[in-house]
Amino acid sequence: MNAIGKAPVAAATTVGQTVTPWLGVVLAVILLSGALFGYDQGVISGALHGIKATFSLSALLVEVVTSWVTLGALFGALAGGELADRLGRKRAVLIAGVVFTAGSLIEALAPDTLILVGGRLIVGAGVGVAAVAAPLYAAELAPSALRGRFISAYQLAVAGGIFIAYLVDGWLSKDDAWRWMLGLSAAPGLMLVAVALVTPQSPRWLMRMGRRTDAAAQMRKIRPGADPGPGLDAIAAVLGKEKGRASWGEVFGKQWRRPLLVGVGLAVFQQITGINAIIYYADQIFAAAGFTTQAAQTTVTTWAVGGVNVAATFIAIAFIDRLGRRKLLLAGLLGMGLSLAVVGAAFEFMTASAGPAAPSAAGLVTLAALIVFIACFAFSMGPVVWTVINEIFPGHIRGRAVAIATASNWGSAFVVSQVFLSLIGAVGNSFTFWLFALFCGLGWVFVFYRVPETKGRSLEQIQQIWKAKGA
Ligand code: BGC
Repeated sequence: MNAIGKAPVAAATTVGQTVTPWLGVVLAVILLSGALFGYDQGVISGALHGIKATFSLSALLVEVVTSWVTLGALFGALAGGELADRLGRKRAVLIAGVVFTAGSLIEALAPDTLILVGGRLIVGAGVGVAAVAAPLYAAELAPSALRGRFISAYQLAVAGGIFIAYLVDGWLSKDDAWRWMLGLSAAPGLMLVAVALVTPQSPRWLMRMGRRTDAAAQMRKIRPGADPGPGLDAIAAVLGKEKGRASWGEVFGKQWRRPLLVGVGLAVFQQITGINAIIYYADQIFAAAGFTTQAAQTTVTTWAVGGVNVAATFIAIAFIDRLGRRKLLLAGLLGMGLSLAVVGAAFEFMTASAGPAAPSAAGLVTLAALIVFIACFAFSMGPVVWTVINEIFPGHIRGRAVAIATASNWGSAFVVSQVFLSLIGAVGNSFTFWLFALFCGLGWVFVFYRVPETKGRSLEQIQQIWKAKGA
């Protein structure tokens, strides 16, 4: 059993553990940032057809247009850590909103492929900065008893963004209005800019900057009626023991190896267990499973993947702060692994019967198993990974360490989306899904032995876990 999950810590404070109006504004920032991330993940599958027709793209350029957002997000995530540390979490979110909006408009108005690809890269950079800054902001602003829910709300918005993108793709597909599909994301981008202008700053970041009076003012705003003193003292006590903002050397140093391994490990497992292979290529998987018409594929993808992803995220929101992170992760990975093993077996059966023209029994089993997979992901590896990544690091390395974990996530997403189709070509559908199932098994072992329980602890108390164990 994981001993680091049992390190003795004082009970978390229960002062101000409710959602006040300003915390509602914080929540809006988180929801809008997640929605941008998700919309962008989901929209491209429907837009590609029209883009290909407009610019007569080669196969290589189709890949570039699809995947360079992920590349932009990788660099955006690395920059996001620096921006969040130097300028503050709130300003980093604001910058993400501006960059994202500009990128969406460039995409929508692009006169040629080069500018379109440039727009994709800029949109990606905005998504990457937001993917670091928004959950970080949520983790630092949320009361500890609600922190899991706040970050899960981010994941809910990611899932919601994907779902809305699938719906928009479906509605606009007849007109081939890809410019509208891409350009529409400027609307939540602008909303994010507007909300980020008024939202409170992170008191933890202000304390780090030596601005206690400002930090106290923000605390009073966020939690009226609660005395900011004890909370700020606890932050100051931890800051007093730190040497100031850590260098890259320290972030990678021996002292923080354990939390860094947990953060990067979870980020990579979230991707190599196959979620985006299914999000990006759902239509093609369902086609192989016998859903032959485009309309059937779109409907199944929208509801079985998009809808279930949103619905099951509510399970995480309900239970993450009650059952804890570990239980959700372990249960989810088990369900994900088993369902992928079933998908692999079902494809084996379909190959034997040489490809049905309508969904066969094996095709329907594939559909059911993929629904179970998406549901299990949505209550575990989706929200919990982002939650844990944003709460395990001490403040002086948090920005950079979260950026490294987030960039590893985008890097793995890039690799999986690049190799998925070739893998299917090389080893077949069944082995590809069994490989993802194997990674779920390895992920389960990793969580069991390496990931501590962080439920209900303040960010300062979580640091004690590493000290108690020796990082
Ligand atoms: C992942 C994304 C994924 C999404 C699906 C997020 O947590 O980071 O890569 O597309 O969940 O809902």
